[in-house]
Amino acid sequence: MELKRHDKFVTNTLSDAEYRNFTDFLEDACGIVLGANKHYLITSRMKRIMTEYKLGSLSELMAEMTRDRTTKLRDRVIESMTTNETSWFRDNQPYIVLKQNILPEIAKKKNDRVRIWSSACSSGQEPYSIAISTHEYQMANPGAMTASIEIMATDISPEMLRRASSGIYDEAALMRGMSPDRKKRYFEKQDENWKISHLIHSKVIFRELNLLQSYALLGRFDVIFCRNVLIYFSRDSKRDIVNRMAKSLKPGGYLILGGSESMTNVSDLYEMEKIAGCVLYRVKPT
Ligand SMILES: C[S@@+](CC[C@H](N)C(=O)[O-])C[C@H]1O[C@@H](n2cnc3c(N)ncnc32)[C@H](O)[C@@H]1O
Repeated sequence: MELKRHDKFVTNTLSDAEYRNFTDFLEDACGIVLGANKHYLITSRMKRIMTEYKLGSLSELMAEMTRDRTTKLRDRVIESMTTNETSWFRDNQPYIVLKQNILPEIAKKKNDRVRIWSSACSSGQEPYSIAISTHEYQMANPGAMTASIEIMATDISPEMLRRASSGIYDEAALMRGMSPDRKKRYFEKQDENWKISHLIHSKVIFRELNLLQSYALLGRFDVIFCRNVLIYFSRDSKRDIVNRMAKSLKPGGYLILGGSESMTNVSDLYEMEKIAGCVLYRVKPT
């Protein structure tokens, strides 16, 4: 039986030039560095798109992306190559420290507005976990924080943002970190799924943003969550991003990275603080 053009993509090995062009494109487009020997990862993740667009090689894909006047194919390629793994209250400790240490400190400043940025929000579990934490803090400390709280949630992926802003999750997604108590309080059943309550949904604003691009229009934040995304980036991109995030923080503001990420040899614009086993980075005064 004769192979179709797009079946050949799976059976052919990628040439060195194709591999290099594709990984260069990915790094330029979204910061992700694949390194060497990720041929299998590329072929397995790109298989579906190649079949859908009837493309036989990565060279054809690159040409098609250049030809495509919309960013649809480009977005699909980036979405296929990124990891969207997330969960509710991921690692737990950052949310405890937010409630017990960071929010009380911010409350003392008596500002009108508190702003928190979830900068790679994936399907929304991170910004909604932040919103629930701020609500729980306000309920437990009536009158302590009168400021309005805004949570800005951004991601490069339009598909992730669509899912996140729908606020609808299946049972399996809720099993990953949502306690029965919080589920009862903050979700309502919608057919087979669960929808986040209006109270929590209304605290979050979603916006498409590539971390490689400017943050100037976002304004300044009290806290930035940038978790489990910079691990995929080069040291130079990481440095550029955290340095620009320092400019997006209000004086004394905090940057919170993922559990396996650190600022060592990356930026000296932050002071490391360890609170209750959680590592935080406070922007140094300028
Ligand atoms: C592994 S998830 C992390 C989600 C969440 N922060 C957490 O810790 O659970 C990584 C997210 O980063 C997003 N991402 C990857 N590259 C990005 C970029 N250049 N700009 C913005 N978001 C990006 C992906 O779309 C994905 O949703």
